[in-house]
Amino acid sequence: MTIELAVIGGTGVYALGDLADVESHQPVTRYGAPSGPVRVGTCAGKRVAFLARHGEGHSLPPHTINYRANLAALKALGATRVLALNTVGGITERFGPRVLACPDQLIDYTWGRVSTLCEEPGSEVLHVDFGAPYTPSLRRDVIAAAQRAQVALVDGGCYGATQGPRLETRAEIERMRRDGCDLVGMTGMPEAGLARELELDYACLAIVANWAAGAGPDASEIITLQDVLDNVAAAMEGVPRILRTLLGE
Ligand code: HPA
Repeated sequence: MTIELAVIGGTGVYALGDLADVESHQPVTRYGAPSGPVRVGTCAGKRVAFLARHGEGHSLPPHTINYRANLAALKALGATRVLALNTVGGITERFGPRVLACPDQLIDYTWGRVSTLCEEPGSEVLHVDFGAPYTPSLRRDVIAAAQRAQVALVDGGCYGATQGPRLETRAEIERMRRDGCDLVGMTGMPEAGLARELELDYACLAIVANWAAGAGPDASEIITLQDVLDNVAAAMEGVPRILRTLLGE
């Protein structure tokens, strides 16, 4: 079974409304079970898989997600290209709430997560190249699809992956800005690194839900879950058009 594209949904994205003829799969991998069922269906005439990263009821915090099982399950179903939807906070000027972005770099601040396939004794030791953490050809296709679909999407940016589940302090965000981060999220790693180890093409479509702590015009603004969900819902409006165009409609 060929799957043209696998989509991993983040906070606020628990289904792909555009999928028809959906079958559910519950694969169990050598790394355990994924976050929930993988829904495989048809979109723009192509087979597409969808997995909700946090589980369909958002029951898994970022540091407990079995990223290895999620990606291995998608690969076992035949996926070779993975588009990760990641809800993020915006740090620098171009990345305000409701912006869509396709970052080209990342910095990993997470800790204590199982972050490689070579965890188990006896497994092959891998040192994959990760200079360009997102697959350039898939990024190019996503950016071209957004242009053709006339959906605004920022090309580039650096994603800083934090441990969570709490949001960051203003000082932490200021440090991340100095480091060169434009976006902050809790789920970008180890997912991207594992995708490289699994030889999956992988790109991130980041959905900016809020200004990161202290980053917006009102530095003392409190980030609420409701704002996050409202902004994700608004920004998601253009995503099905990007996907359909990416799939060749
Ligand atoms: N920080 C980290 N992760 C996030 C944020 C944030 O401000 N917003 C959405 N995901």
